[in-house]
Amino acid sequence: MKEAIRFLKNLGIEKLDFGLVLGSGLGELADEIESALYIDYHTIPGFPISTVEGHKGRLVYGQLMGKWVLGMQGRFHYYEGYTMNELTMPILMMKKLGAHSVILTNAAGGVNEQFEQGELMMISDQINFTGTNPLIGPNNDEGPRFPDMSAAYDKEYQYRLRLIAKRLRINLQYGIYMGFSGPSYETPAEIRMARLMGADAVGMSTVSETIVAHHCGLRVVGISCITNLAAGMQATLNHEEVVETTERVKDNFKTLIKTFIQEEPHV
Ligand code: HPA
Repeated sequence: MKEAIRFLKNLGIEKLDFGLVLGSGLGELADEIESALYIDYHTIPGFPISTVEGHKGRLVYGQLMGKWVLGMQGRFHYYEGYTMNELTMPILMMKKLGAHSVILTNAAGGVNEQFEQGELMMISDQINFTGTNPLIGPNNDEGPRFPDMSAAYDKEYQYRLRLIAKRLRINLQYGIYMGFSGPSYETPAEIRMARLMGADAVGMSTVSETIVAHHCGLRVVGISCITNLAAGMQATLNHEEVVETTERVKDNFKTLIKTFIQEEPHV
């Protein structure tokens, strides 16, 4: 971690407001970062490497709507074989580079029967169903041993995001994201269970990043793109469909996040 931070600071990453984690098919937002500095993951000492199709595997640093941002085009997943510690390392790194907030995005399956394919969902809370927790092990001194999770997703940010969506006439659902380990998609029985447990959407990322971010004091925004209806609610699922749907809704997605960043009064 120390080496990665020194490496990135030497490259010129000095100021940072927002960390951005861009999920499957959503990486294009980072292409709008001005005077961007691109850093391939494999060149960063101590950094894991992304293996999923459609993920670029690089950091993009620069200014977006007047704020300093560090975007991850491609994230790390538990199902790739990384430890929870490894896959959340970039979040802690963002904190140490000076970020005050992270925006975590993902592709997710819609569990709520009111949701439609292609809608955006602001994450209001989460269920960590991965069976583990990234904070297991010695506490890292960035936060308390037993962090309160009553408001893991920042309440004020949620309020602001909903106001922005309303003003821009972008349809924004909100609900609970349930994180599974993957890589197999859920079965219809698991989706019925998820719904009974209160989930509105399911996916294979984000929950551990949110735990680490909240623990170290980063404010968290979560946005899911409902790329498909979850298992049992439509014929079959595949990764191509997930990427196709993000392609279709990316303009609203980008506008929403850019406006949010622009209007963030911090600093
Ligand atoms: N399940 C899990 N992860 C996903 C899904 C899904 O239906 N869609 C996109 N990511």
